[in-house]
Amino acid sequence: MPLLPIELHHTNPVTVTARYQRVESALAHLDHSINSNRRPDGLYHSYNLVDFGETAYSVEPLAEMLEGQVAVLGSGLLDAEDGLALLDALKRSDLYRADQQSYLLYPDRETKSFLDRNVVPEPLVRESRVIRRELSSGRTLLVEQDLHGKVHFNSAIAGSEELRAAINRAGNLDAEDASELLDIYEAVFRHRAFTGRSSSMYKYEGLGCIYWHMVSKLLLGVGELVADARSAGRDEALLEALAAHAEEIRAGLGLRKSPDRYGAIPLDPYSHTPGFAGVQQPDSWDERARDLLDVPGKEQVNWIEYFDSARNHYRAARFSGTRLESCLFIGPDKQLPPRDWLAALFQKEQLTVAERASLLSGLPPANVEDSGRTICSCFSVGEKTILKAIREQGLTTPEEIGDCLKAGTNCGSCIPDLKALLTSADSE
Ligand code: FES
Repeated sequence: MPLLPIELHHTNPVTVTARYQRVESALAHLDHSINSNRRPDGLYHSYNLVDFGETAYSVEPLAEMLEGQVAVLGSGLLDAEDGLALLDALKRSDLYRADQQSYLLYPDRETKSFLDRNVVPEPLVRESRVIRRELSSGRTLLVEQDLHGKVHFNSAIAGSEELRAAINRAGNLDAEDASELLDIYEAVFRHRAFTGRSSSMYKYEGLGCIYWHMVSKLLLGVGELVADARSAGRDEALLEALAAHAEEIRAGLGLRKSPDRYGAIPLDPYSHTPGFAGVQQPDSWDERARDLLDVPGKEQVNWIEYFDSARNHYRAARFSGTRLESCLFIGPDKQLPPRDWLAALFQKEQLTVAERASLLSGLPPANVEDSGRTICSCFSVGEKTILKAIREQGLTTPEEIGDCLKAGTNCGSCIPDLKALLTSADSE
């Protein structure tokens, strides 16, 4: 593929058209390049190794990965049909992880164990004049043979530059020998194909891992495809098929899942799910609570906390001075303290010792009355409290309720509800 020189001078207006043509040409090359990377299974090659020779070049694709499919979707090259074909291919591919209803960054695969990595294959040993000569010389500067007859490069050599230096130190290898040995070294280690996590790591961003950030980008790409198809007036069946993919990807994201399926409480968990488990729960909830609730620069903050590791319960309350400012309840069930009771605590200048203890137990004190759903949010007055006052004190107007409980005396938005409660109490 020819490289296109693009000059960035802004002084000669005559060349603007030419430059525009070059950009057009570059875009055409990019489109061609993406199209030629379409694989027979409908995915796209994402990373390729390119060798430029004197008269030709060769391209060797690496294994599939989600990032490349997302990049192709985001390039704007695919129309709705091609985008749908890619999404269907993705769902059929090894990148799909059914138990999480989502997509891996790279599919899992077997990799060589540590002990199998530095082993020169027997056919290469047999064919290599320089290796056979080194072995028979008894010198181990470059290669050595173990008790089982396997041939290894000297384990002190870390990289081709160090091998080159060792060859120079050996002093008796000609250019052809050196080149042959360096080629065998690359064939054994394949350093040029090393892409870090995608070839050796299994946990974070590694093989068989979901990288939720990339899944979110995939969802964004599909969303754009749906929006473009809709504004282009494409037919309903096509739109529905694309939207079904978008919905399925969205449903696979953490906040749509239960903790037992997702692997963690789906509240901003770490952004990777390793292949052998669900999302990993944060090691330290107290740190996570501070990440979520602390406001940089705010002083005089103090925390009270409770952690039951056996039952996986964490409760924390954060105070600014003596006032309750925020609280966090984490647990495997959906049991939360009554909202009105919590709301009332936020109104207080100072909490009693019993109220603090109740916060950590996740339950209101036994003698606290249930005030019902909040009717007046300005003063945190609940439905049951208002009805009780109407009945016991014979209240007949919102003004009288206001005199008694303050409800309705600030913004006034609860007055229609107060009137409704007066009517319902009257008809009892
Ligand atoms: S909500 Fe009742 S006065 Fe504002």
